[in-house]
Amino acid sequence: MFKPLSDFTLFADRRDRLLSVLDDVYGFEGPALFLTLADFEGLRTSFRQDSTFYYFTGITEPAAIGCFYLQGHSTLYIPKFWEQRAMWVTSTIGMSSDPGHYGFNEIRALGNAEKSYCFKPLLLEAQYYSFIADITSFIKAGGRIFACVPTHGFGALLFERLATWISGFSNALVDVSRDVARLRREKDAYELQLIHAAAQITALAHEQVAGFIKPGVFEYQVRGLVDYVFASTAAAVPAFPSIVASGYNATILHYTDCSQQLQSGDLVVIDCGAEYGNYAADVSRTYPANGSFTPRQRSLYEIVLEVQEYIASIARPGMFLCNKEYPDISLHHQALACFKQYDLDRYFCHGLGHFLGLDVHDVGDVQEPLSPGDVFTLEPGVYLPHESCGIRIEDDYVMADDGAVCLSDALVKKPDDIEALMTRSL
Ligand code: GLY
Ligand code: MN
Repeated sequence: MFKPLSDFTLFADRRDRLLSVLDDVYGFEGPALFLTLADFEGLRTSFRQDSTFYYFTGITEPAAIGCFYLQGHSTLYIPKFWEQRAMWVTSTIGMSSDPGHYGFNEIRALGNAEKSYCFKPLLLEAQYYSFIADITSFIKAGGRIFACVPTHGFGALLFERLATWISGFSNALVDVSRDVARLRREKDAYELQLIHAAAQITALAHEQVAGFIKPGVFEYQVRGLVDYVFASTAAAVPAFPSIVASGYNATILHYTDCSQQLQSGDLVVIDCGAEYGNYAADVSRTYPANGSFTPRQRSLYEIVLEVQEYIASIARPGMFLCNKEYPDISLHHQALACFKQYDLDRYFCHGLGHFLGLDVHDVGDVQEPLSPGDVFTLEPGVYLPHESCGIRIEDDYVMADDGAVCLSDALVKKPDDIEALMTRSL
């Protein structure tokens, strides 16, 4: 089971790096701060921290706001929940916590006291009373606010409200999402360790599930087993809804109904990823439901595998995941060219890969050159709805100085090895 770091220095170092980037990119004469929002908790889903807030703070409490002043001070605002919050949920930070432990200069109440252990209702002006007062005077003094401006969810709503509650808020705001994405893209050793662990747990889930796949089993039973292996191995959760797609469903790229019974002759795409210590893996394999590929399935499968292995062998720093301006060094366009040799390019209908990290589709611009420390997937596939046939093979890689290193290589993928894996009983 994942053990959170008890020392928050790593997160403080990331903030220092960000502030120095913001200083370089934007310069600042007057007061300026970086503001980051925690996510909000709800009853229907487990709480998961906003990825950027977590990246810069390591804090797993909901509804908090971090302010890091470029001139040196830092404030963590937390809701003033009912003091017996700890009776209902695990609560790590309160008004009497030591801010220094979390790398902050001070902890302040966000607003007026709440009557409950959580925000009910959400996004009221009174809940942000002190924060609004502080930011209003900061802006009056000519302050600039750097932030990753949220585009969806409660974060986006809160920004809209802040713009009505705080005079001059929108004008003071500078969206630094691209700068933050560049920092988050380059993974440090701690992050690589967690992504590697997530990939190993995911590989184990595939291995366990392979022997369970047979005609008559339902897709939802396979999904249940995938999610069970994540939980039972390391208290890990799915980083995204696990995809178990058989027959025609395998041609639906993000199929999550999982309602169909496996039929002999079907191929089954399993695309899943454990989240471990907040970091995601994302690994896909394609299995023949009855344990043996037909000659046609095998020949298509071998082409997809050849494309993946070729692309992994040529990937280097300086190339792109996808950039149509430079097709010769764009991995996506190189994969399309490989499929074209077999007249299959029109059946490869999604991106070759994406960055991976705190989010399964992690931040980062695929049109910027790859560099050491980037973690990404390579997931070529072919989808032939008229043959009810979908094949995807996906692994996770980290870019090193001299090429891509596979983080999910514990899991077999040659067709003979897939068939052999399926003969193992649970
Ligand atoms: N694992 C699903 C995707 O990459 O879109
Ligand atoms: Mn993926």
